[in-house]
Amino acid sequence: MSDTVFVLNGPNLNLLGIRQPEIYGHDTLDDIAGRLEDRARELGLEIDMRQSNHEGHLVDWLHEAHFAGAKAVLLNAGAYTHTSIALLDAIKSITVPVIEVHLSDPETREPFRHLSYVEMGAVATVKGMGARGYVVALEKAAAL
Ligand code: DQA
Repeated sequence: MSDTVFVLNGPNLNLLGIRQPEIYGHDTLDDIAGRLEDRARELGLEIDMRQSNHEGHLVDWLHEAHFAGAKAVLLNAGAYTHTSIALLDAIKSITVPVIEVHLSDPETREPFRHLSYVEMGAVATVKGMGARGYVVALEKAAAL
């Protein structure tokens, strides 16, 4: 197993910072990557951070995390969280532990966000903590 933690981000998360800041905050994805890099260094881990608006890329990257022997995957699948059986199947197909991350708490929002396919395969979920949740999820990954 390697010391690398994949951090996979789904649709619209490239717009963090300008996207509904009242819900998602003002940090950009690059800001979050910086915070993760700092904490990863302290924890002796490497970060491989990616974002795509395409569901299949996320599926491919979950497979890649497995074949790379990644320590864990932090996955914020964005709206695919609530729709993607393909992502659930991918999570269940690999042995790498997946930690689900959300900036907001989808369960306190619209009913269509209450179902999470990702949660059905994930070993843990961190939500409603804003950008800091990514660092909390990384600390959980370090403890696995
Ligand atoms: C999100 C929550 C999802 O419901 C939403 O579709 C997103 C972002 C979050 O980080 O809070 O794109 O995953």
